[in-house]
Amino acid sequence: MTEKVVINEVGPRDGLQNQSKLLSVEARLGMIQCLVDANISAIEATSFVSPKAVPAMADADMLCRGLPNTDRIDYSVLIPNEKGYELALAAGAKSVAVVLSASEEMNQKNINMSLQRATDVCCTVLRRAQADQIAARAYIAVAFECPFEGKTNPQVVFDLAKDMFSAGAKEVIIADTIGAAHPGEVRALMQHLVAAWGADHLSCHFHDTRGMALANVYAALETGIRKFDASIGGLGGCPFAPGATGNVATEDVVLMLSKMGFDTGIDLGQLVSAVEKVQVLTGNCSGGHSFRWLQGQKEKGLL
Ligand code: COA
Ligand code: ZN
Repeated sequence: MTEKVVINEVGPRDGLQNQSKLLSVEARLGMIQCLVDANISAIEATSFVSPKAVPAMADADMLCRGLPNTDRIDYSVLIPNEKGYELALAAGAKSVAVVLSASEEMNQKNINMSLQRATDVCCTVLRRAQADQIAARAYIAVAFECPFEGKTNPQVVFDLAKDMFSAGAKEVIIADTIGAAHPGEVRALMQHLVAAWGADHLSCHFHDTRGMALANVYAALETGIRKFDASIGGLGGCPFAPGATGNVATEDVVLMLSKMGFDTGIDLGQLVSAVEKVQVLTGNCSGGHSFRWLQGQKEKGLL
């Protein structure tokens, strides 16, 4: 039987949060519909954050109410605090992701909290979600390197993961927010985490700033990880992490995995159409490394 890998599409959140062109809720829902048409099973639809901090994610409640195919798709939303949790619940969210950075300075810049405060807030939200039977995951951002403090100590990431699991996180997402990790350190960190909590409770989120995101996916895959965040067309970036560029492109990850014999359930032909749609919507997306080749294959009727 073919082994499955889950792709959590973060384009509508990570992909759009840093774009200078703000998209309407209707346009963002149009993008999500294309991803649904490509048979993506998990989508991070938006974030419930301050619209002053991230104007591109405004009207998250309206967006949640308009989401298509809610039974089949695991839609999640990112939240930075209890207010975000309450707003997400009120909008009908069934799955949330809290966000914590592994350095003092990144938490301050991103969510205006100390590392200790951010840890406490994440734990409070995770406990509330458990009581409310809401699926909850936890991001550990800058898990390899922080743009302000340099290399992250893997032990700090390990201890934060422990706190998140203890508070009820179903999954911890290890995020290379600025795209600074290399496959050797990805392998080492993920092996350590997998040994403690099992691959089923972990996933990875890579950015491609230094061209190593796909290699990092491969390194994590070798440690047993079977869930990855990826962003359509390679869009992405955190407005509060200087120098970070886009996420690993969904089409690149899906192509690599399908060539390796893994089953993502995703239709590559429809994924090409989704990239084309995102190009029109944002005016700022060249697609992943494989995009032109995939487009050519599609034109020849080979996808
Ligand atoms: N959703 C929407 N609005 C929120 C909110 C949330 N989750 N949390 C706070 N706010 C609002 C408050 O109501 C207040 O509004 P007002 O100015 O109209 O009264 C304003 O935001 C400031 O609230 P405060 O609690 O003082 O927060 P802050 O100024 O310390 O900012 C965050 C903290 C977390 C709200 C803000 O830094 C943020 O939204 N960060 C998101 C970062 C992000 O998305 N990064 C990329 C993804 S990792
Ligand atoms: Zn990211």
